Formats: sequence, structure tokens, C-alpha cells
Amino acid sequence: MSTFEVLFLFLFLQPIVQATGPCPLSMCGSNSVPIRFPFKLLDQLGQHCGYPGFDLSCNSDRNTVLKLPYSGEFFVRKIDYSMQQIQLYDPDNCLPRRLLHLNLSGSPFASAVSQEYTFLSCPTQFTIKSRFSTIDCLSNSTVSVIATSSPSLADSVSPPCKIISTLQIPVQRPFQYDEGSSADFNLDLPLAWYEPDCVDCETQGGFCGFRSNTSEAIGCFFVPKAGLQHNGLRVFRIICFSIALPAVTCFVAISCFAFLSDSARGSSTRRSNTLTGVVSPQPSIFMVGLDESIIQSYEKVVLGESRRLPGPNGISCPICLSEYCPKETLRCIPECKHCFHADCVDEWLRKSNTCPVCRNSPSLAHDSAANIV
Ligand SMILES: *[C@@H]1O[C@H](CO)[C@@H](O)[C@H](O)[C@H]1NC(C)=O
Ligand SMILES: *[C@@H]1O[C@H](CO)[C@@H](O)[C@H](O)[C@H]1NC(C)=O
Ligand SMILES: *[C@@H]1O[C@H](CO)[C@@H](O)[C@H](O)[C@H]1NC(C)=O
Repeated sequence: MSTFEVLFLFLFLQPIVQATGPCPLSMCGSNSVPIRFPFKLLDQLGQHCGYPGFDLSCNSDRNTVLKLPYSGEFFVRKIDYSMQQIQLYDPDNCLPRRLLHLNLSGSPFASAVSQEYTFLSCPTQFTIKSRFSTIDCLSNSTVSVIATSSPSLADSVSPPCKIISTLQIPVQRPFQYDEGSSADFNLDLPLAWYEPDCVDCETQGGFCGFRSNTSEAIGCFFVPKAGLQHNGLRVFRIICFSIALPAVTCFVAISCFAFLSDSARGSSTRRSNTLTGVVSPQPSIFMVGLDESIIQSYEKVVLGESRRLPGPNGISCPICLSEYCPKETLRCIPECKHCFHADCVDEWLRKSNTCPVCRNSPSLAHDSAANIV
């Protein structure tokens, strides 16, 4: 490691790269949902690891269970820590029955998007003739239960149907009026939480947690060398540093040179000596960019509507810090799989041969194009 790198680490990285979060990751089974702050398993007693209301448990079939104060137990399908969303489902596979009595008070969860639905019970002969799909788990041979998000449709079928209830139902996305029907409830129950707010921390690749055993304050922890260090601030500092260091080196070199030649030869020759001092090759040691053909050989990805990225990547570009939008072109560095806006990373790699996130040097022998170097 060069003196510059030691200086670099000391000055800029030390305060931000902290130890792993204080709490371990847990799971109910090898394929189940990763559980970490603000969630914790109920049996992790005595540990200052979870936020109130975020207790989970495991059942004997290794399902992850969330118990809501007024709505009973749900199984957890998925937890999105950076979007702060949780996806629940009914252990008995009858989500509509649970939705009819859903009461989220006393829990930290709320619906991110909700839509008004009318539940109706109809004579079975009626629904057989109409285009409604029935909610099978609520229906029997004489009564069929349907649900619609269209008030006019609900009006038009009652009678013969009777309105059971009109409710705000949490949905993944809102449906157009005549589009929404019973079938939507075969989906999971999507809920969001807003407190504690760990969105910034998680999208930068950090782990949220209590600062200490006795503190209620939230901190952001970064795991060193796990290829997860998406810290915008860090990237910003690296950029500043890569500009500042050559400038400072240059300035110091000029000053020393000028001072030395001053004392040796007197001030009459200072100007020409200063100019030769500028020609010092020193500053260019620090950042050497990659050849254009190598940059172009790295994989490009066009984002889909889901904006889902492969590998250890967040939802925003670590270089420009703006969120990715559908159809944007990204480029990923093959070794570490970190992705960025293609424009951003191309510009970066022309100036530097390291990944902006993990600082590993991409291999020069990645593609046939690499032979040029
Ligand atoms: C939820 O249940 C609690 C306790 O039974 C009750 O006080 C509250 O009004 C209910 N909320 C709704 C929206 O029904
Ligand atoms: C069907 O369900 C309705 C209400 O849910 C109930 O009143 C009725 O007795 C049930 N009929 C049969 C045959 O189970
Ligand atoms: C925090 O609590 C855990 C479990 O009670 C204990 O093992 C750990 O040493 C504590 N850490 C500090 C810094 O007090």
C-alpha cells in the first residue's frame, strides 16, 4: 500500500466504514426471510435489536410469523428493507376473510397504497351467469361472495347481491375502476412502515440499528469489505479527493521547487524554474483511466419497469446519487457486479481504474478487447 493510499484511508474512509451492525441476522429456515433491524425474533430476548412492534416468530414449519395486535397472525412472504415494505399472507389461504377484519391499529404498519373495495354476497346462480369471479374461500353452494373496486358495478348488482362491507384495502398498485375484482386478493397483503426511517441508510447499502445497547437513537452501519459500501458521501469524497490531491501535490511541488531554487540561485531565475516545476509527472500517478475498449466491453443493462438490479446494488446510482428510472442504461463492472448509470461510470472509468464503490480494480483481461492494453 502506498503512502498516498494510507493517507487516503486515514483521512477519508475511517469515520464512515464502521463495524457491522450490533445485531446478528436471523432466519426461520434456510430459505426464509432474512430478519434484521427493525425486526427481531421474539426469542432473541435481552438483545437490544428490534423496534417495538416488529417482533417476529418462527412456527414449527419454519414459517416466519407476524402477529398484529388486532388482526391475528400472518405469515411473512418478503421484507424489503430499503423500501420499508413487508408482504404478508394468510396461513389459511383466505386473505379476503382476513381483509374483512383487518385492523392495523397498535402496529407500526400501514398500507402504502390502498383502494376502496365493496364486498357483496350474491346468490350462487347469479354469479354463475355473470362475469364475476367469486372468492371461493368465502363462498358455499348457495352464497357466492364477490368484491369490486367499482362503486357503480357494486350498485348495479345489488340487488340481487347484498353489500357485506365497503373497505379500504392495502394493494400493491391501484386498479382502474372496472379492472379491480376478486382476483386481486389472491395477491399478498402489502404493508409499509415509516418509523424507524432507515430508507437512506439501506439504499446506500448500510444496515440500520440502535447506536448502542442503551440508546434509542438509530445509526447506520457499513460492513467493511463486503462489497456493500454504497455510500454516496464516500463517493463524493473520493471524487473531491481525486481532484484535490493532484492539485495539492502540484502546489507543494511548485512551492518547494521555487523555495529551493530561490535559496540556491536567487530570485532572478525563479519564474523559469517554477515553470519547469509544473512539468513534474507526479500528479498523474494517482488516477489512471481504463481504455475505452475495455470500458465498452463491460456489460450494459437496460432497466425494466421493475427497476430490479442484479447483484449488490441499491436503487440509485452511487455516482450521481439519483434514483434509477425504467429504461435507463446501466453498466456493471464484471468482477464486483456493481452497477451505475452507463454515462456516469464511463466518465469515471476514463479517469480511474477502480470501481467507485468498492475500489477494486476491474481486471484488465476481461474481454478480448483487453489485449490492446
Ligand atoms: C381496531 O381495534 C381497536 C381495539 O379493538 C379499536 O379500538 C379500533 O377502533 C379499531 N380500529 C378500527 C379502524 O376498526
Ligand atoms: C352458506 O353461507 C351463508 C353465509 O355465509 C350461510 O348463511 C349458509 O347457511 C351457508 N350455506 C350452506 C349450505 O352451508
Ligand atoms: C449489549 O448486550 C449484549 C447482550 O445483552 C451483550 O452481549 C453486549 O456485550 C452488550 N454490548 C455493550 C456494548 O454493552
